[in-house]
Amino acid sequence: MNLGSRVRVRPAGNVSGSIRLPGDKSISHRYAMLSALAEGKSRLENYSTGADCASTLGCLRQLGVAWEKLPGNVVEIQGSGMKLAAPGNPLDCGNSGSTMRMLSGILAGQAFTSELFGDESLSRRPMARIIRPLTAMGAGISAREGDRPPLHIRGGRLKAIDYKVPVASAQVKSCLLFAGLFAEGETRVEEPLRTRDHGEVALRAYGVELARQGNATRIRGGQKLHAVDARVPGDLSSAAFFLCAAALYPGSQLVIDTLLMNPTRARLLDILISLGVHISILQLEEQHGELVGTVQAEGHELRSVELAGADSAALIDEIPVLAAIAPYTRDGIRIRDARELRVKESDRIQAVAQSLRAMGAQVEEHEDGLTIPGSQKLHGAEIDSRGDHRIAMAFAVAALRAEGETQIVNAEAAAVSFPSFFQMLDQVAQR
Ligand code: S3P
Repeated sequence: MNLGSRVRVRPAGNVSGSIRLPGDKSISHRYAMLSALAEGKSRLENYSTGADCASTLGCLRQLGVAWEKLPGNVVEIQGSGMKLAAPGNPLDCGNSGSTMRMLSGILAGQAFTSELFGDESLSRRPMARIIRPLTAMGAGISAREGDRPPLHIRGGRLKAIDYKVPVASAQVKSCLLFAGLFAEGETRVEEPLRTRDHGEVALRAYGVELARQGNATRIRGGQKLHAVDARVPGDLSSAAFFLCAAALYPGSQLVIDTLLMNPTRARLLDILISLGVHISILQLEEQHGELVGTVQAEGHELRSVELAGADSAALIDEIPVLAAIAPYTRDGIRIRDARELRVKESDRIQAVAQSLRAMGAQVEEHEDGLTIPGSQKLHGAEIDSRGDHRIAMAFAVAALRAEGETQIVNAEAAAVSFPSFFQMLDQVAQR
């Protein structure tokens, strides 16, 4: 898809079908990075097709890691065994905050200097959250205005820290646990709320010992990683767009198999159930510590829901699409404690409010959330993704129940996490 591309989304009468999704983005990044540090060759099936996870692989190649893409989204990565090679050029993280923040933890422990940069959106995103603790561990890091990319990292010997992460962020937690692998002593990372635990689960799958207690994780430095053969489960945040699309139609039937069901990511299912969607989960199994299952969703009249506190953190990537379907619920959706949305790939609170208004909806914007009344009628409109993949996809879903056609401008942004999104949406939308 070309830059500036437009996708037309026509209203649909129902959603139904069976789909299987590309591999989870959060897990793909972590598996790729840990495979690079492992001894031996790892084989990752169903690796994320998104541009973000390709950015991680691109950076790893520049760090001397050999990998190969095989047909069917399989990636084989030859591990370097903890010692990466000094890159000849700055490392391009593209649009991917996960690449920049998590890779920084690994680069902090390498005996060379590196530079990481990103696109315009990533260049605006806050990095002090990783710079402060990595500096305390002994890395030398400088950034534009002290907080923004590009980052210059002088890696070297690290010492363990006991750190309370001030913002709930799984990227920061993983960054510090990865750095902890290179530190002398035991690193302890405590988070204010339990965030997604793919970093911890993946470290264990690669043979690392961790101790977890409440919201704290401890990791001893100097441990070795072994290679794995793993299949990345379907991306639950990508599934959110389809589950919310199905939620819009009483009587809809949607099945998604081999989907990630990790409890730190699956809060969306509880929220959809409280909205009125019938959800059943079949064939649950564990793969490399991650729960995987088949989800069946059936739409019913949508009621209302309030998201706040730990729920907002747990649903941070799913809030744009929940907000986009909120006008079609009976009593609306209220979201608070979601200030982090303002520093994602776009200011997602503003982007959602403006896009909903463009479609004719009433919405109240708060510093940390949105109040969206229910029982509203929306009309088709021109919606600019603002280069944000989740905004492009969320409003394609809202467009299904609007009156008239919607055009998503800069629709190519969807490829950051989900290049085949629009084709798959067409496949399940009944017209
Ligand atoms: C992610 C954590 C979240 C999320 C992002 C992926 C991860 O970011 O929004 O899409 O894989 O750890 P924060 O750590 O900034 O909350």
